[in-house]
Amino acid sequence: MKVIIQKDIYDRSKDIFDESNLEMTPFPLPAEKEMIQFHQQSDAACFILGAEAYSDDFFYGIRSNSLIIRYGVGYDKIPIDICKERRLLVAYTPNTLDQSVGEHTIALMLSLARSIPSIHLSMKRCEWHHTQGVELKGKTLCIAGFGNIGRRVARIAKYGLEMNIRVFDVFPEPNRKYWDLFESYSRDFPRAVRGADFVSLHMSANKENEGFIDYNRIKLMEKRAFLINTSRGSLVKETHLYDALKEKLIAGAALDVYNTEPYIPVDRNKDLRELNSILLTSHISSNTDNANSNMARDSIRNAMDFYHGNLEKISLIPEMRS
Ligand code: GLV
Repeated sequence: MKVIIQKDIYDRSKDIFDESNLEMTPFPLPAEKEMIQFHQQSDAACFILGAEAYSDDFFYGIRSNSLIIRYGVGYDKIPIDICKERRLLVAYTPNTLDQSVGEHTIALMLSLARSIPSIHLSMKRCEWHHTQGVELKGKTLCIAGFGNIGRRVARIAKYGLEMNIRVFDVFPEPNRKYWDLFESYSRDFPRAVRGADFVSLHMSANKENEGFIDYNRIKLMEKRAFLINTSRGSLVKETHLYDALKEKLIAGAALDVYNTEPYIPVDRNKDLRELNSILLTSHISSNTDNANSNMARDSIRNAMDFYHGNLEKISLIPEMRS
């Protein structure tokens, strides 16, 4: 049972992958051609891929009835129409990284609130500053997108930090069992962000919400507010965020995800790295020991179910379930 896997993913959980009954063949990125060549010359029918974009040719090159497993949850870079046309199954590993991304979101929020990155840099320059921080207890956090990760952030922020939670989502109000996690739920973005001290994005990315956080929506936020994005870069118009931060429309922002990864400014004259009010990490929120083990185990389970013909047990992405 052969599996073609991105090498960086294989390296993250090598022991777990090696212990499985699957024969893993890792390929370093970018290696679309080599992967397809190997696939065509072998009976491997299963791929484990990261969040990176592969070309349409790659998906056209895969034999029909193969399985693509997204090691993670965001599958915005997978061309679902092509996969359907080519009869390729697409699976993912939901519920494996909620805590990991949740903790990183809180870490970014705390770092912004206490100016930790800039104070750390000033200490290294042998300076000593008395910078006043913002205490999170009692502050309002607006969570945009109330899926598994949004709910995990809400739980930590509410019960760990005693923050007030507001939810913005395009979906109707969630199941009653989650009602304890928030004070208010709105499908109206302006209403949800009004009065919020922090706005954290947890929506899954799609064509409809591309560039959702633009200059006008940032302007709706409070001047004292911070924006956090650990979801997908496409949700935020980076040039608009740059302008908004320059103009001090909000107090600051923390990003883990970008329009292009590794980060390249969309406009060379609007490089987010130049700003003091921004905190940047390199798409690491889901890259923890526990999340990697969870994602590896779940990827293996999906591949095993596929090779054993237990198709109903595979965690297919919602679009493939009908
Ligand atoms: C990580 O960003 C993921 O969506 O898996």
